[in-house]
Amino acid sequence: MAVTRLAASDEGVRRAGAALAAGDLVAFPTETVYGLGADGTNPRAVANIYRVKGRPADNPLILHVADAAAAEALAREWPDDARRLAERFWPGPLTLVVPARAAVPAVVRGGLDTVAVRCPSHPVARRLLAAAGVPVAAPSANRSGHPSPTTAEGVARALGGPTTPDVTVWLVDGGPSSIGVESTVVDVSGGRPLLLRPGGLPTTAIEGVVGALGTPAAGGPARSPGMRYRHYAPDRPLVLLAMDPEAAVAALAREGARDRWPKARSGLLAPRRIVEAAGWPAAVSLGDSPHEAAAALFEGLMTLDRWPGLDRLVAVWNNQEGVGGAVMDRLERAAAEVVQA
Ligand code: TXA
Ligand code: MG
Repeated sequence: MAVTRLAASDEGVRRAGAALAAGDLVAFPTETVYGLGADGTNPRAVANIYRVKGRPADNPLILHVADAAAAEALAREWPDDARRLAERFWPGPLTLVVPARAAVPAVVRGGLDTVAVRCPSHPVARRLLAAAGVPVAAPSANRSGHPSPTTAEGVARALGGPTTPDVTVWLVDGGPSSIGVESTVVDVSGGRPLLLRPGGLPTTAIEGVVGALGTPAAGGPARSPGMRYRHYAPDRPLVLLAMDPEAAVAALAREGARDRWPKARSGLLAPRRIVEAAGWPAAVSLGDSPHEAAAALFEGLMTLDRWPGLDRLVAVWNNQEGVGGAVMDRLERAAAEVVQA
């Protein structure tokens, strides 16, 4: 499949808008991660997103809109909680699941009677939505199950290659995404709001507006289809050390010299001071704060996954503060094994 790059100029965004109208796919930057977009009113174009990603048909997509009024137009009901959250946090890294109008194509909803809507804040995404004039269906621009790209280079690497030669993908380069993990997904379609996916907007901020969030009942109706599937997995097995810095540095020193994670064959992804203390040859820093860690997370995983000579990856994270909760969630899902102190 050919991926053709466009600059985020007026001309580039105009061409991307025209490509969406023609039924092509457009990868574009958002403040969270890059999205792979299609005209959300065109079921054939939306079906191509599933083909390109290798995404299960029952995992629904988010419709991206320019403002809350456009989101409301897609909803059969716009609950009070939706109104309050949209007023407080849009545009931004929050997705709301609401009852869907019948006009929203079933392929977008994965057959559910709800629809996920989000109003992104990234200026290029906003210009693209204005140019498109329709809701844009867009999952993260990775192949299903893999880490989400946060740069245009990451999108080109994730989506390039010989699959689906009949689909045209345009890629608008808007630089790196500032947040680095996907939006927080909250279901406000009925009863108490439910947290379906922790993300770029900290859960505590949402609870400050609508009170404590519930979690979908295990074994209950599939309110959160996306969470059933394996996610964010690098090709090499990842071990997550959910430990405080001292314990992690001790474990890395001990195991780095032995068979379990020999430092010559293992890549390390950890907060800066742990990377510095460990002194492993293959390492990527997650910086000094949850915000920096989120921004570095997916690119770091992919960099280590391409690093020559490695056969396993070790990540260190143990911080639920702010966007740290979303970093923990992504690493737990990516990991083949979680080790606690
Ligand atoms: O930050 C983001 O949310 C990025 C950017 C591109 O906007 N998009 C993104 O999309 O992460 P995706 O498809 O990778 O993740 C969407 C999540 C999935 O877990 C999906 O199952 C869930 O939202 N979802 C979508 N529609 C839903 C619905 N009607 N009910 C429950 N969950 C839904
Ligand atoms: Mg995704």
